[in-house]
Amino acid sequence: MSQFHTIRVNNRQTGEHLTVSVPDDQYILHSIEAQGYNLPFSCRNGACTTCAVRIRSGELYQPEAVGLSPELKQKGYALLCVSYARSDLEVETQDEDEVYELQFGRFFARGRVRFGLPLDED
Ligand code: FES
Repeated sequence: MSQFHTIRVNNRQTGEHLTVSVPDDQYILHSIEAQGYNLPFSCRNGACTTCAVRIRSGELYQPEAVGLSPELKQKGYALLCVSYARSDLEVETQDEDEVYELQFGRFFARGRVRFGLPLDED
């Protein structure tokens, strides 16, 4: 039988604060969407980091979050599309591309070049 946990989400992009109850056997993102709320997502399979959040308090389980390095998991980041709640939680959405840039560096931020790469002058 499912156990339910209360999740509070600070959606920093929209300024929206959600409080929802989610079962421990359903992905958090899926459960929140089924209750009529929208949060950032893209791949839905733990690879792209679009759905990444910072965990402010509480615990979750994310064994399929292959797109997130062990280091960032330890720093308190999670991918909601493949996370299960293990307690009441408080999370906030990341800054745009924050996790992607932390993992892969600023030069190759998704979809755009932020700094010119040095050109060979010859
Ligand atoms: S939507 Fe891509 S990792 Fe969650």
